[in-house]
Amino acid sequence: MIRRSIRLLASAALMLAATPALHAQTPATLHGEAPGATIDPRIFSQFAEHLGYGIYGGIWVGPESKIPNIKGYRRDVVEALRALHVPLVRWPGGCFADEYHWRDGIGPRAKRPVKINTHWGGVTEPNMFGTHEFMDFAELIGAEAYVSGNVGSAPAGEMEEWVQYITAPQGTLADERARNGRKEPWKLPYFGIGNELWGCGGNMRADYAADVTRRYATFVKVPFGTKIQKIASGANGPDYNWTEVMMREAGRMIDGIGLHYYTVPGDWKSKGSASDFTETDYARTMAKTWKMEELLTKHSAVMDKYDPAKRVNLAVDEWGIWTDVEPGTNPGFLYQQNSLRDALLAGVNINLFIHHADRVRMTNIAQMVNVLQSMILTKDAQMVLTPTYHVFDMYRGFQGAAVLPLDLPKVWYGRDEWVAPALHGSAARGKDGVVHVALVNIDPAKAQHLEIALSGITSTSVSGRILTSDRVQDVNDFTNGARVHPVAFTGASVANGKLVVDLPAKSLVVLDLP
Ligand code: AHR
Repeated sequence: MIRRSIRLLASAALMLAATPALHAQTPATLHGEAPGATIDPRIFSQFAEHLGYGIYGGIWVGPESKIPNIKGYRRDVVEALRALHVPLVRWPGGCFADEYHWRDGIGPRAKRPVKINTHWGGVTEPNMFGTHEFMDFAELIGAEAYVSGNVGSAPAGEMEEWVQYITAPQGTLADERARNGRKEPWKLPYFGIGNELWGCGGNMRADYAADVTRRYATFVKVPFGTKIQKIASGANGPDYNWTEVMMREAGRMIDGIGLHYYTVPGDWKSKGSASDFTETDYARTMAKTWKMEELLTKHSAVMDKYDPAKRVNLAVDEWGIWTDVEPGTNPGFLYQQNSLRDALLAGVNINLFIHHADRVRMTNIAQMVNVLQSMILTKDAQMVLTPTYHVFDMYRGFQGAAVLPLDLPKVWYGRDEWVAPALHGSAARGKDGVVHVALVNIDPAKAQHLEIALSGITSTSVSGRILTSDRVQDVNDFTNGARVHPVAFTGASVANGKLVVDLPAKSLVVLDLP
């Protein structure tokens, strides 16, 4: 169904491109005089699930490990994440969340039960990384915590007590927490009412899920004077009925509703390689990722019906590219490489989130380390930063900035029947007055010359960084190191009220105009 509508969109786009009258472009303009919504830093958030080497080996090695660590957390990973200014981390799942019983992960580590991670590889789950380890990890990297509760296989009271254990300043659960090493309550600003209730979270129908959400949300309570935002389990891609029913029946009891959409280059049976793909595969992937625009627009429109004031956040709490696993690795571990293609795809999505910043106030790329489109890959004591890590780093200036409208020429890129806009951009003004402009050219062969009129912007200089490489298939790995990394960009200038950019093929550029 998705594939069919993307193909239709693609043919429509090709037709537009073929119509000469439509080649006349509106001039490219950056509007500084009309700032829009503030970009919630949380749209640059991450997701860390008990899955493969996402937690164990990727974040947690234990205090006894030979791998350099800070109280059990890998030092290299912690330092890289701190440098990235990760605003928030979602944990413990994912599908794992609806099988997780929080009491398994507290108390002396040696006494914790060993369970089976039935969803991800059927391997043992040692419960060495539990509530204390996660909440302390979030603090260590300077991020907020977003904990997803177990709705699918645990009673509401279990969830209520978990929230109390984390947040209560006094009482039996607070005493137990103190005995386990943490006297002060943690801050818990976000809580997920289950995950994918339409699937691994319980295979519920929308009406039933909305009722269950109301019931479980009732028992998520934090101490007087503190706040917690409750995020309902959201739709699977284009399931607008899910959002409709959830908003209609449970909207007043929640602060956010999720949305999960993965870019799968092929289909779920044969997703396609992470680094060995053709140009048609590339174009199809980009056309499919651009589907996010339609999803955000249509889910937002449904939400507008019930919440015109936009109180409820559309939290895209799982997104990213999902390819086949690397050959020879456990299929249940979702370990995939990360190429320049993935970095460009991340840029496309981030720009879309920025365009929808009035409704989208949190997104969580899946996932943080060693799983799906990760920021970081580790192998024993080695670590590499992926091209996607660098994208998040390059966009740091957008966190908390005010959106500025940016009109770009409509240029298309396509291969076979797969078509998507070649140019993607967004702009924002930071609190310090600096204007940030992000530009992505997904065309693997064609550079773009842009002349962008600056309206209401008096900057006279520009600097920036570019992320590109020889091939869109290029990756950073343990043999060749950091092949894809940002470098200073010299292809932009400001003169006579215009920003002129020579944007190379297959590149992502972020510019600062002081
Ligand atoms: O991110 C991997 C999995 O994808 C999550 O556990 C689940 O929520 C989704 O289907």
